[in-house]
Amino acid sequence: MGFHGGGGIGSEQRRGPPWMRRDEKKKSERKVSDKNLLKRLIKYIVPFRQRMAILALLMLLGSIAGLLTPLLTQIVFDNIIVPGMVSGDKSGLTWWVMIMVALALGNWGLNYGRTYLISWIGNSTIYRLREDLFAKLQVLSLKYFAEGDTGRTMSRVTNDAETLSRFLGFEILDVISEAVTIFGSLFLMFSLSFNLTLVSLLTIPIMLAVPLFMRSRMRSTFRQARQSIAGVTSVLQESVSGIRVVQAFSRETQDAKTFDYVNMQNLKANLRVAMIAAFFHMGITIVRVAGTVILLWYGVTQIVAGNITLGVLIAFQLYMMRFMRPIMMLANFYNSYQEAMAGAERIFELMDMKIDVEEPPKTRRIELSQVNGEIKYDRITFEYEPGVPVLKDINLTISPNEKVAFVGPTGAGKTTMINLLCRFYDPTEGAVFIDGHNVHDVSFNSLRDHMGIVPQDSFLFQNTVRENIRYGKPEATDEEIANVTKVVGAHDFINRLPEGYDTMIREGATNISIGQRQLIAFSRALLKNPRILILDEATSSVDPYTELIIQEGLEKLLENRTSIIIAHRLSTVRNADRIVVINQGEIAEMGNHQQLMKKGGLYSHLYNMQFREPEIES
Ligand SMILES: Nc1ncnc2c1ncn2[C@@H]1O[C@H](COP(=O)(O)OP(=O)(O)OP(=O)(O)O)[C@@H](O)[C@H]1O
Ligand SMILES: [Mg+2]
Repeated sequence: MGFHGGGGIGSEQRRGPPWMRRDEKKKSERKVSDKNLLKRLIKYIVPFRQRMAILALLMLLGSIAGLLTPLLTQIVFDNIIVPGMVSGDKSGLTWWVMIMVALALGNWGLNYGRTYLISWIGNSTIYRLREDLFAKLQVLSLKYFAEGDTGRTMSRVTNDAETLSRFLGFEILDVISEAVTIFGSLFLMFSLSFNLTLVSLLTIPIMLAVPLFMRSRMRSTFRQARQSIAGVTSVLQESVSGIRVVQAFSRETQDAKTFDYVNMQNLKANLRVAMIAAFFHMGITIVRVAGTVILLWYGVTQIVAGNITLGVLIAFQLYMMRFMRPIMMLANFYNSYQEAMAGAERIFELMDMKIDVEEPPKTRRIELSQVNGEIKYDRITFEYEPGVPVLKDINLTISPNEKVAFVGPTGAGKTTMINLLCRFYDPTEGAVFIDGHNVHDVSFNSLRDHMGIVPQDSFLFQNTVRENIRYGKPEATDEEIANVTKVVGAHDFINRLPEGYDTMIREGATNISIGQRQLIAFSRALLKNPRILILDEATSSVDPYTELIIQEGLEKLLENRTSIIIAHRLSTVRNADRIVVINQGEIAEMGNHQQLMKKGGLYSHLYNMQFREPEIES
């Protein structure tokens, strides 16, 4: 059903179970020509050209040594060993052993260098690909991550990069050296005996036909195996990350059933792979044995007729054995090539992903060295999904040092207002200005340097509490940190943690409470001492008492900066200079607490709802 990732994937478009998705995309037609892909890939191996050349040389030497071994065997047999057997002289055997040992040693050295170089080139390519992908991921717009499929992104950076580097670092060169082996062997065989070569080649078409014949079967079986392991991973991952919900809803049994199903699918698929592989090997073995039998039978009749020597027959037998690997390799090369190109396409698709929110070019980029803190939303209309306006014609000017609160129902568009101010998204219409500069023209660094944001779903890294707090200001001293955490009311609880400021935050910040997480995120934003402070439900999970303490501490801190505070708990925003009530993407009303209460609109309604109950109780 070939849809491609990227823009606007609604869940209704995603048919089939989730673990099918990734491969559905894999199947989709390639859109970029191989030539283009190869051109770009070359960039990744050019820096290693010297090592590639050495590797190619080693591989060639290996092929040549491989080619010469049967020939040398023939020469030694026909000229030294067989005459020696007749005359009773055994010294020829010593010669032969010495030659074989010398060849084996040479081969060992070649192999050593080859293996190391292959791995060096392969891993260096992975390294470079991953660096580039990671750099791209760092600048991609939030839109990509909001719509993207994390698993798919991960798979590009890990699996696709690996497939590709294997292909670039090894498979291309290998196919060349195997081709040398094949053509070299053919040449030498023909020069030894024309008829015997023809007889030896009898079974080659069958050997080539087996993989060709089985290719489509094998490919679909392999694909099923890949899909089914993706299913296992996906169910596993969701269960593990959602374990609280799973247990809370007592869904363990059902989930175990789902897992059993995907796990069983995987087992079946793997067994099918094993069966087909076994069948394949059996087929190849039969053909090979048949080939050997034919060769020996014909060869012996030729020896008896005096047309060839024993050495020639032995050499042929050795050549036949050497043919196997290159033939398999060539038969598979098409597959690896296709796989590598598909991987390359996915990687470059990510690298070329359009950055929706782009930094202005250096020449017309405004660097804000100082910010007064005036914010202006000028006729802003914004849509995440085309045709669904989330903000409609918003006009709002916030003066420097003003303390503004955004309030309003869930989904009204409050966080979206912040997203536009920080330029995580660009408005569909209108513009946001800071100190009269359109944020569109301001460099990302200088724009965000002046802002301290406590997002609604603040994220803590797996690091110590201290490092998490000074994330935005790595040079901050312990004293500065303590000053901030005291204001926010986090100092005491942090000191009570097992290792105080050195306590490691676990993945998902599971070892601290959600309120504590908010306090750390709050400290992190405040430590930057930003001109503009944005608190999006920054204290929503903190108890009212702690919140009161924070408010008192903040009072002074907020005096000299512009602040935007979003809160559902209206007690938090009562003291704001101005309260902006947002409803369904529009500014419903605006004013300070007293004015809005007197007005008797949406705000007073919301406020009375929140405070009615305690009054009734008391
Ligand atoms: N990434 C997104 N893609 C599409 N729609 C979105 C996206 N983020 C938010 N929306 C939609 O935009 C609207 C406004 O969302 P927003 O997050 O601004 O609400 P909010 O006022 O902050 O609500 P809350 O009080 O619950 O935090 C919602 O209807 C939401 O469904
Ligand atoms: Mg919000």
